[in-house]
Amino acid sequence: MKKAHILSTFLLFVFASIYFSACNDDKGKEVPDAPYITTPFFLNIPEALLNADNPLTVEGIALGKRLYYDTLLDGVSGRACVQCHVQKEGFSTYASNSLPHINLAWSSAFLWNGQVEGKMEDIMLFEVKDFFEADMAKLNANATYKDLFKKAFNADKITYENTSFALAQFVRTLISADSKYDKFLLRKVSLTPSEINGMDLYYSEEGDCFHCHGTPLLTDGDFHNNGLDENPEEGRMAVTSNPQDRGRFKSPTLRNIALTAPYMHDGRFKTLEEVIDFYSEGLKYSTTIDPLMKQTHAGGVQLTTQEKADLLAFLHCFTDSTFLNNPAYASPF
Ligand code: HEC
Ligand code: HEC
Repeated sequence: MKKAHILSTFLLFVFASIYFSACNDDKGKEVPDAPYITTPFFLNIPEALLNADNPLTVEGIALGKRLYYDTLLDGVSGRACVQCHVQKEGFSTYASNSLPHINLAWSSAFLWNGQVEGKMEDIMLFEVKDFFEADMAKLNANATYKDLFKKAFNADKITYENTSFALAQFVRTLISADSKYDKFLLRKVSLTPSEINGMDLYYSEEGDCFHCHGTPLLTDGDFHNNGLDENPEEGRMAVTSNPQDRGRFKSPTLRNIALTAPYMHDGRFKTLEEVIDFYSEGLKYSTTIDPLMKQTHAGGVQLTTQEKADLLAFLHCFTDSTFLNNPAYASPF
């Protein structure tokens, strides 16, 4: 808890500069003087979050982006990552309960139940190999990709590994740090009285959202049973076999939350109003419900109509239109 807090404080400090290095094409770019010498790309985040075995390069990120947007990657049914992870929808989608690709560089357990633990490369390997069953023969037969993998990794053969490395590079650059709330923290904009009230609720023991969706990532990266059901699904228990983990799911980031409906792991809520009603008076008690959930006997934190409206207004401050419109993330096709 303490460690996470120090990290958060540090992240808040570096966040301001990240956006600029993440989307400024010229920064860190050198004209290569020989073929297949990659160009380092500098993402201004703590080194621990990067992977020394897979340093970011301009070529690697561009290749990862292309793969992300290309249906050629799917060995089964012609899907592309972008089908369920859409930039304008916070790299999530209205069509399913997919998890958003926002600030995942700070994550080390992936999927709703944390089934894949480790680095970004590990979850990408899972996506490419197990989920997409990518057809490596098809990629290797493609002259454009042959060339791009050679330039990015000096690789003669396209493999599951270097494919996931490229995707990991691109997804690491998907950083949101310019929402209205970020700008407010940097004293660049002010919030309306309603938004301020919402913020106070969010960060108070009364409304209590911050324990699991705290600044600046708006997730604690941990797993909780937030009281959705009397008889919760397995959740994290499916991975750990520990009965205490029943009903525990990954706290999603609330960055761009206004755009990532439907909500919860099973997409049961269609709107943020429904989510707020749930936390206010819809909680269900179960033995593994998180102790952080307040007033479970009364069904939740009991907000007034005005408080609900204020909280909603504050949640809208997490929308980061710089991120949603960043051309560096857009389709290369
Ligand atoms: C058909 C829709 C669909 C497609 C296509 C898709 N995803 Fe997902 N993605 C999801 C869903 C749904 C989840 C949440 C699933 C779960 O946790 O069980 C998810 C979760 C993820 C996560 C975990 C995020 C986190 O916070 O833990 C990553 C990373 C990811 N997807 C990457 C990809 C990549 C890379 C591709 C392309 C190779 C891809 N996805 C294609 C629907 C999709
Ligand atoms: C005890 C930790 C905890 C607290 C406190 C908490 N949440 Fe959550 N929140 C979670 C978890 C875990 C999930 C995912 C649950 C699931 O899908 O099963 C979640 C999901 C959400 C979602 C849906 C996200 C998505 O992408 O689907 C929203 C919105 C949300 N919470 C808002 C809030 C607000 C607003 C508050 C304060 C009133 C709050 N949360 C308090 C842990 C918490």
